[in-house]
Amino acid sequence: MKIFIDTANVKEIKEVYEMGVLGGVTTNPSIIAKEGKVFEDAVKEITEIVGNDCLIFAEVISLEADGMVKEAKELSKIHPNIIIKIPMCKEGLKAVSRLKGTGIKTTCTLVFSAAQALLAARAGASYVAPFMGRLDDIGSDGLILISDIADIFAMHDIKTEIIVASTRGPMHIIDAAKAGADIATVPYKVIMQMCEHPLTTNGLAKFMKDWESVPKK
Ligand code: G3P
Repeated sequence: MKIFIDTANVKEIKEVYEMGVLGGVTTNPSIIAKEGKVFEDAVKEITEIVGNDCLIFAEVISLEADGMVKEAKELSKIHPNIIIKIPMCKEGLKAVSRLKGTGIKTTCTLVFSAAQALLAARAGASYVAPFMGRLDDIGSDGLILISDIADIFAMHDIKTEIIVASTRGPMHIIDAAKAGADIATVPYKVIMQMCEHPLTTNGLAKFMKDWESVPKK
């Protein structure tokens, strides 16, 4: 399972990119709003950092298909590795379908049911983004959704990739990987949590302490 970062923060993107684990950067209107930058400028800045090695996901804000397609065409001019995020709804499916075969790849986002994921895949989305954490937040089991979509796509040989979004902690990532997701998009804080283990921290501290007693040249 590939790891993407779910942020538009340049410092966070740079650090995780340097760690060599990054396959993509996902944004949405809320994530872009946090950075206080013009949308297109924020996306361009990300492409300048990771564009050669990573996919960069930018979301349309129109609510009807014509506007979504127009925005998708404009955004995709920024960089060849831009993938367009389109919200799951009737108009979104129309836009996904119209963009299929144009060379512009789409992600159907805000997916909360396997039925939505199946429609998105059939409309021609390259990726679907089920929101695991937000389902857990309302007392529903996000993992069941990931597992259902993975099973359905495997059973029917559907090539659309599953990007698990709205991830809240390291166990979400491991559970999603075991359920068969292709990608998890992960907040910076959770990537750092994935790096850490108390036995690693304590073990390293002991190595450093013991090293002090080693005779030096
Ligand atoms: O990629 C979608 C994701 O950013 C949503 O996460 O934490 O707002 O539910 P969250």
